[in-house]
Amino acid sequence: MTIGRGADVLTTEDLSRRDIEQIIGVADSLGSAVETRTSLDLLAGKILATLFFQSSTRTRLSFESAMQRLGGSVLGFADAQSSRATGERAESLEDTVRTVEHYADAIVIRHPAQGAAKRAAEVASVPVLNGGDGTNQHPSQGLLDAYTIWREKGTLDGLSIALVGDLKSTRGMHSLVYTLSNFRSRLFLVSPPELRFGDAVKARLRQRDLKFHEARSVDEVVSEVDVMYVTRLNKEGTGSAYERLLREYPRITLDTLRGCKDDLIVMHDLPRSDELGLQIDSLVDATPHAKYFSEVKYGVMVRMALLALVLGAVEPGGECL
Ligand code: CP
Repeated sequence: MTIGRGADVLTTEDLSRRDIEQIIGVADSLGSAVETRTSLDLLAGKILATLFFQSSTRTRLSFESAMQRLGGSVLGFADAQSSRATGERAESLEDTVRTVEHYADAIVIRHPAQGAAKRAAEVASVPVLNGGDGTNQHPSQGLLDAYTIWREKGTLDGLSIALVGDLKSTRGMHSLVYTLSNFRSRLFLVSPPELRFGDAVKARLRQRDLKFHEARSVDEVVSEVDVMYVTRLNKEGTGSAYERLLREYPRITLDTLRGCKDDLIVMHDLPRSDELGLQIDSLVDATPHAKYFSEVKYGVMVRMALLALVLGAVEPGGECL
């Protein structure tokens, strides 16, 4: 198991199918506390530090909720601006981590720079969990997305999955596609040409002999897919093309879903809003296809699993220690 006691969670690139199945198993066994709104005492006395250098609603609060559901406690910047980690005379990320590791038993970090979580892990003596580094990776997001598919479809194999939107610079999408590369589903990659996955992702898919098809429009694939995963357009990496790409960007409405399978699930990492409105129209929310708020709940379960594993409170099989 790659993710066990003392491990860092920096990327999904190095996870095996067995690793992912074990995380799913632990999430399933601990997740009933989320369903019943109760708490466990597996991490009583342990502290999680949240170092968020970028804004977040879900990642930060769900890690905090997960830690508290496991009986642990949380500390963190109210805002990085109010700490010594940013500003004119900011101390280095490494010095911030060397300080915070004495206050907490694990650290979750979100940072605008690619590789920041790895830098933190290189100096930390406690596990570091990457809550998103630049446009690189957001592993707990990719894993909760995979868990959502598994919960809703009962498998990660034999499905047709559309990944829709900014595949180039959405870190959660990178974490998801590397996770899915361990399974045997067919991928439809739907985006404007400039927002396609880079060569490294496609090389991984080819190496794993995973079938994928690139499309420009959701209409081309809507009737075939079991899962439609939509993400937002990132400003990072699009430069002056941002406004144009925003106008061309795929948007999901009841009309878009006409002709879809009855049991299609529609997912989104959220937030789903941008300068032009909602990427998934709110009328879709009332359909049985909408699973984006279920993802939020599953996210707490997966983050409970990751915390319990890296802090050594459960074995990969889900047995509490
Ligand atoms: N999906 C996600 O990472 O949401 P937040 O930015 O709110 O954490």
